[in-house]
Amino acid sequence: MDRYQSTILVTGGAGFIGANFVLQWIAEVGKPVVNLDKLTYAGNLANLASVRSDARHVFLQGDIGDTPVVAKLLAEYRPCAVLNFAAESHVDRSIHSAGEFIETNLVGTFRLLEAVRHYWQTLPAGHKEAFRFLHVSTDEVYGSLGPADPAFSERHNYQPNSPYSASKAGSDHLVRAWHHTYGLPVLTTNCSNNYGPFQFPEKLISFMILNAIQGKPLPVYGDGQNVRDWLFVTDHCSAIRTVLARGLPGEVYNIGGNCERTNIDVVRAICRTLDDFLPDSAYRPHERLITFVKDRPGHDRRYAIDTSKIKRDLGWQPAVTFEEGLQQTIRWYLDNEEWVSNVQSGEYRNWLAANYAQRQMVT
Ligand code: NAD
Ligand code: DAU
Repeated sequence: MDRYQSTILVTGGAGFIGANFVLQWIAEVGKPVVNLDKLTYAGNLANLASVRSDARHVFLQGDIGDTPVVAKLLAEYRPCAVLNFAAESHVDRSIHSAGEFIETNLVGTFRLLEAVRHYWQTLPAGHKEAFRFLHVSTDEVYGSLGPADPAFSERHNYQPNSPYSASKAGSDHLVRAWHHTYGLPVLTTNCSNNYGPFQFPEKLISFMILNAIQGKPLPVYGDGQNVRDWLFVTDHCSAIRTVLARGLPGEVYNIGGNCERTNIDVVRAICRTLDDFLPDSAYRPHERLITFVKDRPGHDRRYAIDTSKIKRDLGWQPAVTFEEGLQQTIRWYLDNEEWVSNVQSGEYRNWLAANYAQRQMVT
């Protein structure tokens, strides 16, 4: 087999979106994937258990900022594309401790870009033009919207407000510059909030599902009226595949679910679904568990994505409704108790104490 023709390198492929992407790629594309992941607290090999003995998936523990490791991988596997999912991804953690965010999201992306550029420059004509570096980024780089503002298009100014979004914004600028200066064929995607199987329970939906199942408080920040645009993770993965296949080098594509919801509505929907799924639960009605707590500092009020470019130019649109996706997600957490108990141990408990102990109830 000519590995150059088919192998892709995915970074951060043991995390939530990266693992979903790898599983979808193996199932639907069926070509080899090399998966480089540092296995931070958010990386979990259990997410990849179903491809553990699949010869098309090669996993390597390592850091995107470790240039010798990345250079060796590129030389050995000769990928036709590199997809960069690796990041520190949680806004609240970035507020508590920003250093790792700068290290991985900014410095790590810089080092990865340099290693990839050196590899790409050695490729023969044809292969060089066909190569792609796809950078997975976020809508948070655009800042916060008012209630009547139009949704974020690709032309929206960058106005990042958290250490996380600032580090991702910086990485987007590096990717753009490596295209304009060196000609590296890059693609950037800026996506809205994802939810679905394998999400580490620190983000709103995964956290609230597990707390509600376990009868713990559901701590809604501030007034609960902040708005996010929700996308089921497999739809994000299919959008990335579409951009990889048909996106134009140097272009940016926004990805979203056309699904704006206030946080309190999301939490109430989780509670109602659990009431239906668990008629014998001692915690019904689960809405009784909702508490309003001290707000996140610098909390962005509203995100919304204008998906017209990716729909018009590449023909992609989401396939899973919020109601279907939420049911699938809740069912997945109910059916995967072992996965849940493994991730809820150790470091996770320290995080809960650090983030929630100081947030006194406000109602
Ligand atoms: P995640 O935190 O679940 O996973 C991140 C993965 O990256 C983990 O497996 C971790 O071990 C790995 N990683 C961290 N630092 C690394 C390093 N230095 N080298 C190699 N691997 C490293 O994150 P996620 O939610 O899956 O997000 C994936 C990407 O998508 C991120 O770039 C994030 O910014 C972006 N994104 C996420 C969302 C969302 O709602 N979760 C939305 C839009 C964009
Ligand atoms: O928009 C895309 C981004 O979405 C991604 O780039 C990030 O990686 C991802 O973490 C996510 O960022 P948010 O800050 O929007 O997601 P989070 O799940 O942390 O919070 C969603 C909303 O829910 C936000 O308004 C804060 C609120 N929230 C969150 C938690 C964890 C609560 O009210 N209570 C909570 O306990």
